[in-house]
Amino acid sequence: MSYHKQLTIGLFGFGVVGEGLYKVLQQTPSLSASIKKVCIKDPAKKRNAPVSLFTTERDELLNDPDINVIVEVINEAGPAFEIVSTALKNGKSVVSASKKMIAEHLPELLQLQEVTGQSFLYESAACASIPVIRNLEEYYDNDLLHGIKAIVNGSTNFILTKIFEDKLDFQQALLLAQQLGFAESDPSLDVEGYDAVNKWAFLLTHAYGIIEHPNNLLFTGIQNIHSMDARVAAEKGQQIKLVAQAQKLHNGQVASFVIPQFVPQDDHLAFVKHEYNGVVIESGFSDKQFFYGKGAGSFPTASAVLSDLSALRYDYKYEYKKLYHHQPNKLTNDYYLRVYVSFTDWKHIPREKFEWIEEWHAREERKYLVGVLPVNELLQSDWWKTNATSLILTPDPVIEDIAIKQLKKKSLELAGII
Ligand code: HSE
Repeated sequence: MSYHKQLTIGLFGFGVVGEGLYKVLQQTPSLSASIKKVCIKDPAKKRNAPVSLFTTERDELLNDPDINVIVEVINEAGPAFEIVSTALKNGKSVVSASKKMIAEHLPELLQLQEVTGQSFLYESAACASIPVIRNLEEYYDNDLLHGIKAIVNGSTNFILTKIFEDKLDFQQALLLAQQLGFAESDPSLDVEGYDAVNKWAFLLTHAYGIIEHPNNLLFTGIQNIHSMDARVAAEKGQQIKLVAQAQKLHNGQVASFVIPQFVPQDDHLAFVKHEYNGVVIESGFSDKQFFYGKGAGSFPTASAVLSDLSALRYDYKYEYKKLYHHQPNKLTNDYYLRVYVSFTDWKHIPREKFEWIEEWHAREERKYLVGVLPVNELLQSDWWKTNATSLILTPDPVIEDIAIKQLKKKSLELAGII
């Protein structure tokens, strides 16, 4: 006979995800999990649950010895971190959906897990309904994981689909994403790529053992994509998606970025529309695997929280295998990206920074070029995000340092210089 722990939950937050969880739990009596108290910020707000369930006193949950699990699904990263750390120190397991908080406090959260020995699970924080963290953690051995390419933000994917396929304008599409509960309270977090890079930061930990603050990762959002870019994509039979990518280079180090990318129609990610997310994993012997599912919204996110709760019944913990049991991989910026850049005036484009420019076109409304840039140039400058300049990666954009060196040597040889 198996024994499963009874879960008595203290829930922080009753927004899109919190209320979703409340409803999902009512439909899952087999889980033996019940919410004892919900801590909220605004007691005046009308809610679809008995008034007696709510409190504004966080200690009522954090100090209640009956509560053995804290589920934290609030918006603000600072208070979320305080709640999570106090709960772990008070001997409670924690399930969280706060991607920004996890990305920004990962080193402290790792330490807290080590010191307290408590479970801290956050499957819903990346790609909502897709079990990406547990898969990366449990299934893919470090050496086998060649690359991972993903759409990790539902709102931007929803907006791009609505603009380019359903011909809505940007504001209409964003409003719809907000009404459907996909967007962050501050939607610029979605649009400008912050939400995606936050998720990417801790996915890199589970995939490769890399711990890096999101501010140090190369990223942007969809804010500068122009309608001409979409026309160029359509002419090439491609789509534009906000893609997070990590790729192991020949030297064993990892290239990583979150930047819009042209996606050919036969790429798995081209299939990912609206608020869906998708993850393509390339591993040693199995070649490509594709995970697909809803990446935002009340029930899809609550379903992942539910799955974490279920895992707590047998005391599941992330082991951070790539970090603690393998030689962690290192991030590198010593590589190049093949980029498309559309712009209004050449004066905004530092042509001398490109290794080479292989195409350029002038259309009535804008100009564009295709060329190769060193990644350090993108990290150290912002001309590619300002003055209405739009930078989109070409398919398979990574060019390794060694390939550039070989090409340079060859051209010098041909010119008779060496
Ligand atoms: N705003 C997020 C998104 C919610 O659109 O993906 C899910 O994390």
